Amino acid sequence: MKERVLTGIRPTGLLHLGNYFGATRNFLQMQDEYDCYVFVADWHSLTTHPDTSELQQSVRRVVAENIACGLDPEKVTLYVQSDVPEIAELYLYLNMLAYKGELEKTTTFKDKVRQHPDNVNAGLLTYPVLQAADILIHRAGKVPVGKDQEQHLEMARNFAQRFNYRYGNGETILPEPQAFNYSGGELIKILSLDGNGKMSKSENAMNTIYLADEPELLRKKIMKAKTDQGPAEPYSQKPDYIQNLFTLMKLVSSPDTVARFEMDYNNSSAGNVVIRYGDMKKQLAEDMIKFLEPVREKTNAMLADDHYLGNVMKQGRDKARASASETLQLVRKAVGMQYY
Ligand code: TRP
Repeated sequence: MKERVLTGIRPTGLLHLGNYFGATRNFLQMQDEYDCYVFVADWHSLTTHPDTSELQQSVRRVVAENIACGLDPEKVTLYVQSDVPEIAELYLYLNMLAYKGELEKTTTFKDKVRQHPDNVNAGLLTYPVLQAADILIHRAGKVPVGKDQEQHLEMARNFAQRFNYRYGNGETILPEPQAFNYSGGELIKILSLDGNGKMSKSENAMNTIYLADEPELLRKKIMKAKTDQGPAEPYSQKPDYIQNLFTLMKLVSSPDTVARFEMDYNNSSAGNVVIRYGDMKKQLAEDMIKFLEPVREKTNAMLADDHYLGNVMKQGRDKARASASETLQLVRKAVGMQYY
């Protein structure tokens, strides 16, 4: 029996290079070794995005982009959260075991309250409870998480523990999920093109490379990436925005090309700058276009197909519900919801 690994993706924003090299690519390697569950967290998106006019498009796009990147819906259980009502029922039981005080102390909640003081809803407060339900409904043992999600995972463990303690009668009904740092993949950090922090979702669109970006837009974004007048002395340490261009180049260009620009960089000094950042960015833009083209084309083909994505989602839904309803039966029985 393969170990079960689960992850959720919020459908709020296009997939970008930071997501791809940070998370998606590792997941592609894991799909053969683990029993993988990947879902689109559309309920979660309602906590911050009550306007659903673009939801359908966003959900279809996330699914398509992940498949275009190589996620195989025959290998992983790929589904949409709202297609699995069992999650909502588990969320209800877990809500009774979650304390208002601990929810209010959650870092992501406090951040969201600061960002949107006009929409502090109960769903936002109980976001970590819904996330715990996502994980526990499949009794998944491992969840690959970034730093920002560690606290949510810890809360999921607490809720599982409380559930077992209160209703388990000595048994572990809901196993405590562990954080998973996949060791097969290297950690690649990609910065925003202006050098200001991580490449991140919706903010800062002109400094973020999305998998969906068309060639002209890619050229424009990359050509205006931050550079400077060049290194002051040979073999200088690279400032992080320059290192970032080299990192990107290593990911999409040939080793020869990277080596050539590395050499130019190392041979440059004040008054004798050999490296031409303009040329480097031109080359990077063309190689990035070639790298992203197949992903974009596959994505667009799936989005244009009236049946394909629907069938994938239905198949995922059926697999996910089968697993979820097994857990829910155990949960209902443990709680005592059996009257006849
Ligand atoms: N909260 C996660 C995020 O913001 C998304 C998510 C929802 C998730 N449910 C999950 C991640 C369950 C892992 C497991 O990215």
